Amino acid sequence: MITTKLDIETIREDFPILKRKVNGYPLVYLDNAATSQTPKQVINTIVDYYSRYNANIHRGVHSLSQEATDSYENARIKIQKHINAVQPYEIIFTSGTTDSINLVANGFTSFLKKGDELLVSAMEHHSNIVPWQMLCERTGAVLKVIPMNHEGELLTEDYAKLLSKKTKLVVCNHVSNALGTINPIERIISLAHEVDAAVLIDGAQAAPHIKIDVQELNVDFYTVSAHKICGPTGVGILYGKEEWLTKLPPYQGGGEMIAEVTFEKTTYADLPHKFEAGTPNISGGIAFGAAIDYMNSLGYDAIASYEKELLEYATEKLMAIQGLKIYGTSQHKTSVISFNVEGIHPYDIGTILDKLGIAVRTGHHCAQPVMDYFNIPGTIRASFSFYNTKDEADILVEGVKKAVQMLS
Ligand code: ALA
Repeated sequence: MITTKLDIETIREDFPILKRKVNGYPLVYLDNAATSQTPKQVINTIVDYYSRYNANIHRGVHSLSQEATDSYENARIKIQKHINAVQPYEIIFTSGTTDSINLVANGFTSFLKKGDELLVSAMEHHSNIVPWQMLCERTGAVLKVIPMNHEGELLTEDYAKLLSKKTKLVVCNHVSNALGTINPIERIISLAHEVDAAVLIDGAQAAPHIKIDVQELNVDFYTVSAHKICGPTGVGILYGKEEWLTKLPPYQGGGEMIAEVTFEKTTYADLPHKFEAGTPNISGGIAFGAAIDYMNSLGYDAIASYEKELLEYATEKLMAIQGLKIYGTSQHKTSVISFNVEGIHPYDIGTILDKLGIAVRTGHHCAQPVMDYFNIPGTIRASFSFYNTKDEADILVEGVKKAVQMLS
C-alpha cells in the first residue's frame, strides 16, 4: 500500500496557535493527548455557525432552525460513516468521553445485581474507573482488574482467566493516555463475548491516531471526544449497538428526549434523542463533523506513519539522556512518551520546559493506579501529533537536558 506523505509545513499553516510564542519562545505544543489544537477549517465552521445560522435544533420550523438541524444531523452521519456504525442513531452526542461512560454506567444500574462482575483494565483513566466503582456501589456488583506488565501491556492470559459467566461488562481503553499502549481490543472483545459480557472501549486516545471500525471490532460501546481529534471541547460521542441502546434506559430527563409527557406518565423518544436531553452543543457537534473531514483529508495511514517516525525519533533521542526512563515500552504504541529523570520530580522538569515554550503534561495524568503500579508520583508526558516536527522533538530533548542540568 502506498501511503501519501504529509506536507507538515503546509499542515502547520492550518493551525493559527502554532505561530504563537510562549514565554518568549516559539510554542512547542506536545500536550496533544490532553487536547489537540484546532485547525482553521474547524474554527471557521464554528464562526460560520454563529455568524449565519445559530438556532436551536429539532425544535423550530423556521429556516435557521432547519439549517442548524440539518448541519447537526449531517455531522452525526459523518461520525457514523467515520467509525462505520450501521445506523446514524447509534451515535449519541455527549459532552465527551467521560459523559459517554457515565451514560452507560448509569444505564447498567438496572441490569446488574449483587455478585455480578465488571472487569476494568489496570491502565485506565479515572473516568473509566470511577463511574464503574459508583455503579458497583449502587448494585453490589464487583470490580475486578485486568493486570498489566512493566512494558505497560495487558496480560491477556490473566484476563481470560478472570472472565466467567458472572462477568457482565468489560471496560478498557483502546489506547492508554498515560503510557500510549495500543491494547489488543479485538481479542479483549471476542473473549468477553464468549461469556456474553458486553464491552465498552474508551477510544479517547485512539481516535486521533487509529481509524476505527466498530462493526469489524464488534464492540458494544465505543467513546470518542472531539477535542482530541482537532475538534472543539465539550462534545463527544457514545457509539452503542442498536440492541444495547434500545435496552439502556435514558440517562437524563429533559425537553426533546420524550415521546409524550403527562403528569401520570412519560414515554421516551426514539434513538438517538432518548439520550440527548437539553439543548446540545450544536456548534460543537457540527465542528466535530468538520474535524472528522479534516482528519480524513490528511488520511489516517499517512498520520500513523508520520507519527510513528516522530515517536521513534524522539524516543531514541530522549533515551540517550542519562537517568531518563520511559514508562510504556510496548511495541504497539501511539506517539506518547511518558518519562522521568532519576532523582528529579516531574513537575520541576515540566516547569522549566514551560519557561522554554514547551507544553507537556506532568503529573499522574488522571491515571493514579498506573503511577502506583510503577511506584512513581507522576511522569512528564510528551504527546506528539501529526503537526509536530522532528525539530520540535530536538527542542524538547535540549529542554530536558537543560532542566536536568539546572536541577541536578
Ligand atoms: N485525558 C486527558 C489526558 O490524558 C486530559 O491528558
